[in-house]
Amino acid sequence: MPSHIHSTSRIYNIASIPGDGIGVDITEAAVQVLTTLSNTLGGFEFEFKTFDWSSKKYLERGWYMEDDGLEQLKKYDAIYFGAVGWPDVPDHISLWSLILPIRKALNQYVNVRPTRILEGTKSPLAAVQASPSDLNWVIVRENSEGEYSGQGGTSHEHSEHAIATEVSIFTQVGIERIMRFAFETAKSRPRKKLTMVTKSNAQRHGMVLWDKIFYKVAKEYPDIEIDKMLVDAMTVRMVYNPKSLDTIVATNLHADILSDLAAALSGSIGIAPSSNLDPTRKNPSMFEPIHGSAPDIAGKGIANPVGAFWSAAEMVRWLGQEKAADGLMKAIENVTAAGVKTRDLGGDKNTVEVTLAVCAEIEKLF
Ligand code: NAI
Ligand code: MG
Repeated sequence: MPSHIHSTSRIYNIASIPGDGIGVDITEAAVQVLTTLSNTLGGFEFEFKTFDWSSKKYLERGWYMEDDGLEQLKKYDAIYFGAVGWPDVPDHISLWSLILPIRKALNQYVNVRPTRILEGTKSPLAAVQASPSDLNWVIVRENSEGEYSGQGGTSHEHSEHAIATEVSIFTQVGIERIMRFAFETAKSRPRKKLTMVTKSNAQRHGMVLWDKIFYKVAKEYPDIEIDKMLVDAMTVRMVYNPKSLDTIVATNLHADILSDLAAALSGSIGIAPSSNLDPTRKNPSMFEPIHGSAPDIAGKGIANPVGAFWSAAEMVRWLGQEKAADGLMKAIENVTAAGVKTRDLGGDKNTVEVTLAVCAEIEKLF
């Protein structure tokens, strides 16, 4: 019998796009941790294919991905993404050449961003008594339309009469599907609580449609406690009363901003994960820490890899390996609890030291 018939190991083909700056360091760290996880647990394996799509390559050859790049990605079980963006390339070029087309073309209309205080780390909210159980949120971000639809244009560009429009697009289908996902997320968590964020006092069309569809979908979920916040007041509530929040749903722009605040409040942007999901599972989903390429610390070997590991855990969970995902999270928290942390979390370890500690912890756990 050919040897492959004996193999019961499930192979996951992962497209890896390290991108720019610390994206490269943390993707390498995540690949190392994921490989340790599959080797230790057995039963599944990851096969990584690295795509050298980055701003550095763009400057050399004039393109980010091949013309059929999105088609290439569709063949994978999942995509692991580092970060894109570098000072020599305008940010709207890098984002619109790589990350935004991927999210849109692969129907990744949900962006899930959990936030909590990890064992052994402290929130800057210590003054308001934040303890790990006081801040445990999931932000559900609309990831396909809204303020990042790319609609608009510029006229009279090089004159003092220059006009630019940036049009937000909100569709019933787009809002309804993100609301359903948010209610399901709230339902899967112990507190059964969903807060919806808009700015429907000042923005009276798209945001009002958000409100309306929220209350319509809410009728299907009578067991979920709901409330509604304006985005400006939401920033205040996140700081002063973190405990009052659980699951949060917001537009593409609002959730982008609120999730950076959430990350900072939980200790550091360096720990925050995100999942770009196609809930229909027709296309691969994409997993990435929420931070960017951090040019200020790139090349120094000090980037916090925890956000990359947590994103990897979310990928493993999405692929159906619950036990491995839980184990990876446990390993990460045992390491932070032991004080093995990078500088952004008040520690003195570097990327490689934290990575090796997480790998050693995985081997201990399983
Ligand atoms: P950033 O997230 O790269 O950095 C903000 C601050 O947080 C910096 O001081 C940085 O040193 C620190 N930081 C970020 N990640 C860290 C980590 N893992 N460990 C320790 N410290 C960390 O945001 P910034 O500076 O606004 O953007 C830099 C570039 O990244 C820009 O070109 C931007 O467009 C791009 N970007 C790309 C994203 C993506 O690929 N999804 C997301 C956000 C920004
Ligand atoms: Mg962001």
